[in-house]
Amino acid sequence: MKDFSGKILFITGGASGAGLGQAKVFSEAGCKVVIADIRQDHLDEAMAYFKEKKADVHAIRLDITDREAYAAAADEVEKVYGGPPQLLFNTAGVNAFGPAEASTFEDFDWVIGVDLFGIINGLVTFVPRMIKAGKGGYICTVASMGGFMASSGCTPYSVAKAGAIMLMECYMQALKPYGIGVTCLCPGGIKSNIDQSALTRPEHLANTGYNTDEKTMEFEHNIYQTVGVDPVDLAKMLKQAIEDEQFLLIPTMGPGMDPAVMLRGTLERLVNYCTPEGMKRQAEMEKKRFEEMRQHLPQGANPYAGAADAGWGAARKDLTWVKPRQGF
Ligand SMILES: NC(=O)c1ccc[n+]([C@@H]2O[C@H](COP(=O)([O-])OP(=O)(O)OC[C@H]3O[C@@H](n4cnc5c(N)ncnc54)[C@H](O)[C@@H]3O)[C@@H](O)[C@H]2O)c1
Repeated sequence: MKDFSGKILFITGGASGAGLGQAKVFSEAGCKVVIADIRQDHLDEAMAYFKEKKADVHAIRLDITDREAYAAAADEVEKVYGGPPQLLFNTAGVNAFGPAEASTFEDFDWVIGVDLFGIINGLVTFVPRMIKAGKGGYICTVASMGGFMASSGCTPYSVAKAGAIMLMECYMQALKPYGIGVTCLCPGGIKSNIDQSALTRPEHLANTGYNTDEKTMEFEHNIYQTVGVDPVDLAKMLKQAIEDEQFLLIPTMGPGMDPAVMLRGTLERLVNYCTPEGMKRQAEMEKKRFEEMRQHLPQGANPYAGAADAGWGAARKDLTWVKPRQGF
């Protein structure tokens, strides 16, 4: 897709971070943008910005895990703009850090509910409407580099993001005959508000096995501000990927962080897991991995230093049977 002018774009998580960056870039490119978000304060702030710009942006408060509300949001788009969107960006997401073995059912239900089922809800709601409208279109999902690397420090997130990548590849195959393209964006870090994820966690899923005190949120915030890409820059990269109909977009995080190298490492890891010799090779590689990553951080800074002191990625304090985390 090259011409965005007059196209209707629906963005989940469109009121903050990556989604807000997308709303800014694509409204400037001529799209009529719907920003759907669970946080009313984020929606209000974003709408104040777009009103000043006189941009054609419509806000809908939506929890993407609520299927009935999602269908109502889709109806609202048709009412406001006269038809279903030609572009759907599944960008909303949450994260939670803590040891896999401390995870509760609620940790899995919440993170996978938003980060994987939220996307599924978007696809099942909108894809039939887009196909029936017969105008083709484009779907983008924001997964994560974390979908390629197992992380025992945010397991529900890694699972959801790996699932999202596979989900989108299946939909890319399925939607080709309808003229609907698909891009899966897998960033490594974004300057965003994702460290505030816990604020939108529903009461009935509040039981967590992770340490979630304010100190950890502050620590996490600093990490994203250090290693993260600017959301508007990221959205510009996404626009280019859509114009080029490129399925995977993995923005580099700097020198030595070439996406192709990272993907080859992923493949090599899986091959290594298939033999005892490979298992040993993999253990050696793992040892080197974080050291290499640290060397390439901006100005040699290591934003992960002090994680243990901040209790970031630790288990809930009363789960004394959980061993302290190694690494970071
Ligand atoms: N921040 C990073 O470093 C990073 C890295 C890789 C991938 N990502 C992914 O980027 C996407 C955007 O996140 P971000 O970093 O811009 O964070 P963000 O918190 O700034 O934006 C996410 C938005 O999604 C909304 N949201 C959360 N739960 C929702 C729900 N149930 N229904 C509707 N809206 C909901 C939030 O209110 C927020 O406004 C996410 O999918 C995230 O996993 C982020």
